[in-house]
Amino acid sequence: MKSASMTLDRDYIVGRIDPRIYGSFIEHLGRAVYGGIYEPGHPEADEQGFRRDVLKLVRALGVPVVRYPGGNFVSGFNWEDSVGPADRRPRRLDLAWFTTETNAVGLHEFYDWAKKADTEVMYAVNLGTRGPENARDIVEYANHPGGSKFSDMRIANGSKDPLGIKLWCLGNEMDGPWQMGHKTACEYGRIANESAKMMKWVDPTIECVACGSSAYDMPTFGDWEYQMLSECYDNIDYVSLHRYYGNPTNDTPGFLARSMDLDGFIKSVVSICDAVKGKKHSKKTLNLSFDEWNVWYHSSEQDKEIWKREKWGPALPLLEDIYNFEDALLAGSMLITFLRNADRVKIACLAQLVNVIAPIMTRNGGGCWAQTIYWPFMHASKYGRGTALMALVNTPVYDCADYEGVPLIDATATLGDDGGVTVFCVNRDMTEDFRLDIDLRAFGDLKFKEHILLHHDDTKAVNTEANPMNVSPVAGPGGKVEAGRAQVSVPALSWNVLRFEKI
Ligand code: AHR
Repeated sequence: MKSASMTLDRDYIVGRIDPRIYGSFIEHLGRAVYGGIYEPGHPEADEQGFRRDVLKLVRALGVPVVRYPGGNFVSGFNWEDSVGPADRRPRRLDLAWFTTETNAVGLHEFYDWAKKADTEVMYAVNLGTRGPENARDIVEYANHPGGSKFSDMRIANGSKDPLGIKLWCLGNEMDGPWQMGHKTACEYGRIANESAKMMKWVDPTIECVACGSSAYDMPTFGDWEYQMLSECYDNIDYVSLHRYYGNPTNDTPGFLARSMDLDGFIKSVVSICDAVKGKKHSKKTLNLSFDEWNVWYHSSEQDKEIWKREKWGPALPLLEDIYNFEDALLAGSMLITFLRNADRVKIACLAQLVNVIAPIMTRNGGGCWAQTIYWPFMHASKYGRGTALMALVNTPVYDCADYEGVPLIDATATLGDDGGVTVFCVNRDMTEDFRLDIDLRAFGDLKFKEHILLHHDDTKAVNTEANPMNVSPVAGPGGKVEAGRAQVSVPALSWNVLRFEKI
């Protein structure tokens, strides 16, 4: 058995954890909405057509915010199509995903779903084919009390009270040539600035997220952030980051090291934000919204086949990645990375929530189940609240194709408001268990409460409707605490949640 150690101190903190780092995302894409959260006629459908079984799994995740309605979809979307009597809403060709959008579910329906799911809507406006005027109009529609064209339209559509949407995305991935209305950094920065300014004149309580790069390896990365932020720094509140990883060469150690890339991406964007802050002599520190993150590669070939067969069909089964055990380990390391950067990452959205690169899968007319990645997300969301601690971890490391010195034990910790400490830990070692010594002396009397373990002998093991708990958490071997020092075993290739509570 190998060994590693972790030292924690109550004064050594990263910062307060914004609960919105446990956000998610639902786009009008594939079967996320139609056949995912919404399936009228399904035995589990409620009076509005929302699947109760899906709602139950969503609520258990504890997702404080859900980004909506896109994604690439939003860059060609007219929000007016999605409100008013459902039978009069237009069917539109969605050029992002080559499907037909029926608009059966629109803003009000999604808002109602969000209430049922115990979450808040983070609404994205179209800055691709549209601009500041439409962005201002939708804020007036959603948030203005009444007595104006769009607020009265909302009232006529059945919502007397404003929807009170607080968080707004200024478009989506506007740096990407695949995006409808793709822009240069300066073009986008100007439009984002004017949109945010006008949206906040309508409702000064809102917060706005400007589009950063759609990936760390975009050729425009860095210049995009610097130029775009130079235009809109003063009027926005967050800059977005998006990142997806895959393991197409079946290199598990290399794949599990990808959270090093994530950390580098976050730190680079923080540096650029602060450079713009410096240049502008600004007193404002800009924070990050990592509003798309996940593993995404399993479904890529399948999607090409679907489009060959039936372009423009509604609710095509697109981006239906089936996640395996190693994907859950990387998801765990990505969550650990957000906690380590909790001083600047204030929002993060697991992309997405249901069926589309999602922790939750459904079968039309059938059941719904949790994929492997559901579990680390649920554990972090449930137990990773309060204050992020700056953990000093002493661990052996390994080298892989893209990184040197990858920690075999990837771990961090949080201090709950009840005084309890939770350690999150991925053992990246392919074969060896670790003994982890945790120095908890600074926290007074703590006792061991629980060891939650996610492990499977097969890195490619998946959950299915027939075998939904194949990869699921069990009670781990745990350990003991003596004089403030804990000793626990963490098995080879595993996700661990170690909970310590006040005596
Ligand atoms: O989440 C799937 C897609 O990934 C989103 O629509 C887009 O923003 C990103 O490229």
